[in-house]
Amino acid sequence: MKNIVVLVSGGGTNLQALIDAEKSGIIKNGKISCVISSNPDAYALERASKNNIPTEVIRRKDYDEFFEYDKALTDLLKSKNADLIVLAGFMTILGHEVISAFENRIINIHPALIPSFCGEGFYGLRVHKAALEKGVKLSGATAHFVNEVCDGGPIIIQKAVEVKSGDTPEVLQKRIMEQAEWKILPQAVSLFCQDKITVKDNIAIISD
Ligand code: GAR
Repeated sequence: MKNIVVLVSGGGTNLQALIDAEKSGIIKNGKISCVISSNPDAYALERASKNNIPTEVIRRKDYDEFFEYDKALTDLLKSKNADLIVLAGFMTILGHEVISAFENRIINIHPALIPSFCGEGFYGLRVHKAALEKGVKLSGATAHFVNEVCDGGPIIIQKAVEVKSGDTPEVLQKRIMEQAEWKILPQAVSLFCQDKITVKDNIAIISD
């Protein structure tokens, strides 16, 4: 059984999707053992507590230097014996130490079809605002491994979602969450937990 640690910053609807998927057996061979938040007020922490999942808070602003924060987060994740780390709406950039300590063991959910609307500055509603400003007719979500290129790691699963005329960033965000994020993130986690993902030359290969 793989030990899953979920990193959050906000509302935690993706965390909830993971909790529900674990309960319903969609996630095979994995268990969420801890939720770590960058924000002590994140509602995601309540979702974890309601499901008896231990929580921790680690804030970037409590460390003077980025490398100190990077080391503290790495040590915390090692102390939790994490096999897999899931970024479920985690809004703090990860550093070299944590990424190299957990190579191809960190999965992020991004609310667009990478390589569109991704990279530095593209997070949360900003992603959907940019998609609407471009006038794309399809957007979606991507579950991918994290490497040192922001949103540049191997792509595991993508799902397209229709953009409708009159969409606001909020409306599009909700549709993409419901139709894509909450489905593909648990699927990607389950594939990882069953050792069904291999990575070669920055490409993720899924076996069935
Ligand atoms: C989600 O839409 C997630 O894809 C996005 O933040 C939201 C968090 O919602 N993540 C990013 O933009 C990362 N670049 P949640 O807290 O309800 O899961």
